[in-house]
Amino acid sequence: MNGQVYIFDTTLRDGEQVPGCQLNTVEKIQVAKALEQLGVDIIEAGFPISSPGDFNSVVEISKAVTWPVICALSRAVEKDIDLAADALKYAKRKRIHTGIGTSDEHIRYKFNSNREEILERAVRAVKYAKKYVEDVEFYAEDAGRTDNEYLARVVEAAIKAGATVVNIPDTTGYCLPEEYGAKIKYLVDHVDGIEKAVISTHCHNDLGMATANTMAGLLNGARQCEVTINGIGERAGNTALEEIAMILKAHKGIPLETNINTKRIYPTSRMVSSLMNMPVQPNKAIVGKNAFAHSSGIHQDGVLKNAGTYEIIDPNDVGIDTNAIVLTARSGRAALKYRLEVNGVKLDDPKLDEVYKAFLKLADSKKEIHDDDILMLAGADRAHGRRIKVDWLQATSGIGMKPVASIGLDIAGEKFEAAATGNGPVDASINALRQIVHRPMTINEFTIQGITKGSDDSCKVHMQVESEGRIYYGFGASTDIVSASVEAYVDCINKI
Ligand code: KIV
Ligand code: ZN
Repeated sequence: MNGQVYIFDTTLRDGEQVPGCQLNTVEKIQVAKALEQLGVDIIEAGFPISSPGDFNSVVEISKAVTWPVICALSRAVEKDIDLAADALKYAKRKRIHTGIGTSDEHIRYKFNSNREEILERAVRAVKYAKKYVEDVEFYAEDAGRTDNEYLARVVEAAIKAGATVVNIPDTTGYCLPEEYGAKIKYLVDHVDGIEKAVISTHCHNDLGMATANTMAGLLNGARQCEVTINGIGERAGNTALEEIAMILKAHKGIPLETNINTKRIYPTSRMVSSLMNMPVQPNKAIVGKNAFAHSSGIHQDGVLKNAGTYEIIDPNDVGIDTNAIVLTARSGRAALKYRLEVNGVKLDDPKLDEVYKAFLKLADSKKEIHDDDILMLAGADRAHGRRIKVDWLQATSGIGMKPVASIGLDIAGEKFEAAATGNGPVDASINALRQIVHRPMTINEFTIQGITKGSDDSCKVHMQVESEGRIYYGFGASTDIVSASVEAYVDCINKI
């Protein structure tokens, strides 16, 4: 076993498919540049046929990024491939990723077809993509549940048609590690010409086995793995980039390496989490808040004597600054700029001035300002330019009284005011708002999360609402939970 593992990052494609995680083009460019600095080999920048926004993002990322290969997804359909090729026109190094479902479930129910016809369509798609680019990756969707013998035939035909990479997705996250590893080995042993292509893993985490399956694939001959930052992705997510990079770094006995600059892992994780409004679970491996926090006495004693007693990874290796300074009202612009950069956010001077002003305001109401607070402030301007804004809000609640709220809204420059009661201050505020904006909206999900600690903490609110059969996601952040909740609700209305 030798060598180099290519890291194919699909945060901006599979990751971005998560409801509520959509980024605009400017934000996607920011993430793509961070991925370049992180050292990923291939960036899957989008699925151009899916929307004009996705098409445009692939174009702009192609212009903005130099080293990584830029990849665009397509189905095995000519017009998809045409558009993918067009979107990639400015990429210095480009790849078209095309493919089709190969499991009997997909063949029968999705395509109402048969194995031979699907094999022909796969070959036609690869040949068609090959007219545009040299580097064509073929995916056999739902390969995890595809019969190995048939999968080998499809993969062999795709390589003969010119595929340079063959992707074996466990689309439903069903496989066991032994099973997935054996599938890759089966292809290595049975596909004629397999040495002409790189085998890629693409694992989903529905049963919590994405990382284990990816490792099984790599140990059995795959040399590319498709991953996302923080493991984000549809349903339970994709394999987490940081986990694979650190497994290969920590296990010196595995003769595989990546080009990942591991010190960029934490800043990139923070940036993606903040831009996508997708919190990282505290116990998440490598990048979770508690990943290096030892709370038991025995562990603390051991770590103080020698970090190696309980730590298999040095937090500094993933870019966690263990001497992180805490910002206060007395911190200057330079300190704020430095902390933002450690967290992967680079701002131009006018934007930094704006964030610094907001920082001083927050520091007035909160003793210590942590990284999550400043990331929240740096992202807060995403609300600018929205049609509906909250001018002011007053909510009163307490024991033995009926909660009441009044609100002032600015709707495209026109001012409105209303008041209402409710069963709590959030309910009263939203009832007041509903008197101004009469739209049927049901709140399906509503989560409030403290950012750090203390009663003076800031909080983030994530909300999912349903309106006329469609789902919208909203986000709000403030030191005041009522304001953050109303901001999240208004964010949803603006999206409608
Ligand atoms: O999970 C999957 O099968 C995919 C393919 C489109 C590559 O994301
Ligand atoms: Zn996928």
